Amino acid sequence: MSFAGLVPETPNFVTHLECGMTGEKLPAGQLHNLSPQGFPILVRYDLAGVKKALTREKLASRAPNWWRYRELLPVRKTENVVSLGEVMTPLLNLPRLAKKHGATGDIIVKDEGRLPTGSFKARGLALAVCMAKELGVTKMAMPTNGNAGAALAAYASRAGIESVVFCPDDTPQVNMNEIVLQGARLYKVNGLINDCGKLVGAGKETAGWFDTSTLKEPYRIEGKKTMGLELAEQLGWELPDAIFYPTGGGTGLIGMWKAFEELEAIGFIGSKRPKMIAVQATGCAPIVRAWEGNERHAKLWENAHTVAAGIRVPAAIGDFLILDAVRNSNGFALAVEDAAITAALDEVAKEEGFLMCPEGAATYAAWKQALSDGRVKKSDRVVLWNCAAGLKYPMADGGTPLDRHGPIDYAKL
Ligand SMILES: Cc1ncc(COP(=O)(O)O)c(C=O)c1O
Repeated sequence: MSFAGLVPETPNFVTHLECGMTGEKLPAGQLHNLSPQGFPILVRYDLAGVKKALTREKLASRAPNWWRYRELLPVRKTENVVSLGEVMTPLLNLPRLAKKHGATGDIIVKDEGRLPTGSFKARGLALAVCMAKELGVTKMAMPTNGNAGAALAAYASRAGIESVVFCPDDTPQVNMNEIVLQGARLYKVNGLINDCGKLVGAGKETAGWFDTSTLKEPYRIEGKKTMGLELAEQLGWELPDAIFYPTGGGTGLIGMWKAFEELEAIGFIGSKRPKMIAVQATGCAPIVRAWEGNERHAKLWENAHTVAAGIRVPAAIGDFLILDAVRNSNGFALAVEDAAITAALDEVAKEEGFLMCPEGAATYAAWKQALSDGRVKKSDRVVLWNCAAGLKYPMADGGTPLDRHGPIDYAKL
């Protein structure tokens, strides 16, 4: 099948962009970072038009990747689609662990580790790069905790765009290596992701790069939105009772919430929504603190630390959008200890044979916590977001040395 055959040719339904806080309308078809008021920008579509153009049946006949949702994506020209062989990521049940903890509802993991560059960051960065290509950008820069930088490097190189990435100097080594191998210039900064973000902003005019930071351009969220579209379709257009999402910048949680809104507007789902549950680590939990304090914005978290590098985000510019989705869904935000994350990773790997990333394991730890304090029911059908391949992370040394020349007591092996 030709590449164009994998991506349906369709009219573009984008009507305009708007400020995520004030709703001020902004024109599509030109470059934007934050809105004039300094907030993230959302893309708006002619959903009545999409409703006429797209049916569930039409969708079902398309190739199994996110380009099947083209009517709800911003790319105008197929020649600007940048692809590295995306897939619809599988849903994996954890029946043994459900039984062990007395749950009767399905515990489902959405395994994003199967995407190009091994993480869900491919979704957002692919769309950001497509749109950068469409709008004539030649150089993109971004702060990262690892996976996002790897996705930017890969998709930008694929598109022939230069990329510059800034990461905390203790980012997982594999991420730093893949970023460089995939063609980005990488700077290892003695600070956290928000410090890296400041450098990207400060260098913008002089270095002439486009600031691709989380929620500081409008299109990463559209890519992450495909998680919600895909999940709904895979579950037969019946959303689960709860979604546990490891929350850093929160693009995925905001994107899924937007996906559900758009799917309802085009008549693919009803008004039922899952509880959106923002999972953070106790060493970096600004959203949990804001949710508990009933705040609209989250204050910077000092001395952030956690084994789950992807959610070590002390301040999120889209904090109010995350909190709105959590509240409007009757969800909640909760933090888990690093020890619980490590134990969860071990438990799922040993008992279900599935290696999660630490951020994904945090969602499993959070589910157990919420189950024991009654915030989710045993009968609830829940989805845990495993955002990256477990293989990308450092692992403890394992195995026992065995001397093949010596006597071996097979009865003890
Ligand atoms: C594996 C992993 N999980 C979760 C996150 C947090 O994602 P978001 O920024 O959408 O909240 C990241 C971000 O770096 C990540 O790499």
